[in-house]
Amino acid sequence: MNQRRREVFDLPDWWRQAVVYQIYPRSFADANADGIGDLAGITSRVDYLRDLGIDAVWLSPFYPSALADGGYDVDDYRDVDPKIGTLDEFDEMVAALHAAHIKVVVDIVPNHSSNRHEWFRAALNSPRGSNERSRYIFRDGKGENGELPPNEWQSIFGGGAWERITEPDGSPGQWYLHLFAKEQPDFNWDHPDVHEDFLETLRFWSDRGVDGFRVDVAHGLKKNLDPAFDALADVLGGRELFVDGQHPVWDRDEVHEIYKEWRDVFNEYEPPRTAVAEAWVAPHRQARYASPEGLGQTFNFDLLQADFRADEFHEIISRNLAAAEAIGGSTTWVLSNHDVVRHASRYGLPGGQESKGAPGAGAPAGTGNDGKQWLFDGGDPAQVDHAQGFRRARAATMFLLGLPGSAYLYQGEELGLPEVGQIPDEDRQDPAFFRNRDVEVGRDGCRVPLPWSSRGRSFGFGDDGSHLPQPDWFGDYAVEVQDEDPASTLNLYRRALELRAELQGDETLEWEDVTDSSLTFRRPGGWRVVLNFGTEPIPLPSGEVLLSSSELGDGGLLPGETCAWLR
Ligand code: BGC
Repeated sequence: MNQRRREVFDLPDWWRQAVVYQIYPRSFADANADGIGDLAGITSRVDYLRDLGIDAVWLSPFYPSALADGGYDVDDYRDVDPKIGTLDEFDEMVAALHAAHIKVVVDIVPNHSSNRHEWFRAALNSPRGSNERSRYIFRDGKGENGELPPNEWQSIFGGGAWERITEPDGSPGQWYLHLFAKEQPDFNWDHPDVHEDFLETLRFWSDRGVDGFRVDVAHGLKKNLDPAFDALADVLGGRELFVDGQHPVWDRDEVHEIYKEWRDVFNEYEPPRTAVAEAWVAPHRQARYASPEGLGQTFNFDLLQADFRADEFHEIISRNLAAAEAIGGSTTWVLSNHDVVRHASRYGLPGGQESKGAPGAGAPAGTGNDGKQWLFDGGDPAQVDHAQGFRRARAATMFLLGLPGSAYLYQGEELGLPEVGQIPDEDRQDPAFFRNRDVEVGRDGCRVPLPWSSRGRSFGFGDDGSHLPQPDWFGDYAVEVQDEDPASTLNLYRRALELRAELQGDETLEWEDVTDSSLTFRRPGGWRVVLNFGTEPIPLPSGEVLLSSSELGDGGLLPGETCAWLR
């Protein structure tokens, strides 16, 4: 193992430059042959993760859940879903990852529980106005008999954001707020029990050795339900980000009081636990989530939403590095996750990345994503230029890995996996599809279980099938196929992460050459990173080529849509 990475593991601020690999547990590796990935499956693949060269894993939710929203509907925050494993298996997994010098980050979902959570069940069985009800957001309906929702707000996944309940005596009753699926009732963060319970959850996992937390919908916890906002039907999905704390739901200033409390808990530990906010907020509001008194880091989704263009990359990178420097933090880079079209496909969309559209203000990325809809509903998937997507994805990833800040990778991108387009309706799982199928294909296409081998019932994912269907071509991308091939995407990632470890410790970047179609920057130690966004070759800067995202031609030229690292 790379010595530098081993040293970073022991640093309290290991996260500043970390490469964090997102695992979607149900789709990573299935050890008990039930078609669903599990914790033992992750443990069985620790060698793979170590050899890839990552610093940390982030696990999407593995808690007990009816999977109304892929596990982001949590029944119990301090347990493991029996379909995925046990707490003992969790401990074994953490021990195995730590032994490989890999940190562990878990997902915390504080905006909403599932409707099966014991508190929500207690709320349904308790009268109006009870303490049990006030841990969630219940309101009387409008209309003569309360038959109309309290307002017209539309949920992120489509349909109204309020659901009516039946009172314990059988009569039609109050309504509760759910920004996401109706199985995801929103907590009332004005209630002290909610605060206390999450602090307990943070300690529970920290005591088990968890190193950090990814905070789901971090910008949504505090709400202002003033009737003045009732008329704004699209208030949740609206694209207006520049609201400076005045939006009724998203990015309210008071939300940071919660994260100050959390920070006190993180600092009870040695080294302090870390966190990264999932906050879809305006660029100038991101730093508050990332402050050292708050969560410490926030996702920056700017590159994920950008077109493959030199001017956009240049502006985004410069702005985010400056913002991070201003607060003494470090920025984060991400191109793919479990909510968006995989970037190997996104970059091949006809019309460029522009046709993708941007997610809404409060939306998980990918929701209301025009490109996804185009890709699979309106447009002909055959029109996606896979070769271009693949080439650009490798180049963009290498460019990103050369930057200061931490890099978040999504399982399967190291295989160059494209999005799976053809999933039959009856196999789909995402609530975004079921609630909004006319406009939304959902996020299942990036959540299909990984191919480990080129053959077999589920391409080595497990000994049984796979909970989402894998296409026939998946075997071509299998780990087994790429492992020995020096030109494979897997080996490009491995080599890039190995080299990147040498850069750790210094967070400076200097632009050296900025043109309409290429960017070159310098890093310490005489490193240069150059990306040719155009299709025509350009001269390579001087230096020894350490790595390139596609084969270099003769004559010192850098081919189109290619990134090279030089020293
Ligand atoms: C997660 C999504 C999830 C939503 C609701 C998000 O931002 O990334 O996958 O559907 O939160 O929990």
